Amino acid sequence: MKVLILPSKEAAILRAADIVAAQVRARSDCTLGLATGGTMLPLYAELAKRHQAGEFSMTGVTSFNLDEYVGLAADHPGSYHRYMAEALFDLTDMPIMRAHLPRGDAIDPKAEAMDYEARIAKAGGIDLQLLGIGQNGHIGFNEPTSSLGSRTRIKTLTDSTLEANRRYFDTDEEVPKYAITMGIATILEARACLLLALGESKAEAAAAMIEGPVSAMCPASALQMHAQTTVILDEAAASRLKLTDYYHHVHPGGRESDYS
Ligand code: GLP
Repeated sequence: MKVLILPSKEAAILRAADIVAAQVRARSDCTLGLATGGTMLPLYAELAKRHQAGEFSMTGVTSFNLDEYVGLAADHPGSYHRYMAEALFDLTDMPIMRAHLPRGDAIDPKAEAMDYEARIAKAGGIDLQLLGIGQNGHIGFNEPTSSLGSRTRIKTLTDSTLEANRRYFDTDEEVPKYAITMGIATILEARACLLLALGESKAEAAAAMIEGPVSAMCPASALQMHAQTTVILDEAAASRLKLTDYYHHVHPGGRESDYS
């Protein structure tokens, strides 16, 4: 796992944007795995800004989002479809026909989950998967105790996730209780992963992911099994790590090392 610790939130976002932009420039027909959540918003804003400045085009890109809430139609204000349109797709030349998310309002959500997995395979898999992390160590909506061999399926959200999502909905009742999410094995099949975690509230989960045992209790720890994973942290999210000196030594200021 490549652990890059940046001095500030802003620097961490710029570093993550550099990696995504480099991927799109290197292969204009690449397939990106996209994530949602508050952490991704400034990253998407930075990418949209760079696109508008002419740094890269997304016309050749295919994307697959990690997850969507069961029961929400694409035009629901709390849906990840809406989030992606507002945060990235509408601000770039991303072709909407190749921007995939699970359909939250599918009549048969289980069949939709299986079909989504098949669509990723048919597209040739994901080149770069973006990830955030939940305070309980979840990636996508793979909550603690999710099978490390799991595929795209329906997950029941934990109380802590419902609580974290409450701010996006008007009433408690509206907060979705289920999501269709890529599984952990689905995520691990991406050719490269890039996880961004910012702030003190993510420090414990980041430490468990990077330095804890590989365990379904911290689904993000499964990334220890992935040979091409980069984790970008700001100082606050890195504050509970034990080997901080080593990470700074290998990647001073979050830069590449001499051999990577
Ligand atoms: C949701 C998403 C995750 C995301 C997490 C953290 O649960 N499904 O993909 O990583 O939120 O969100 P935030 O960045 O707002 O802390």
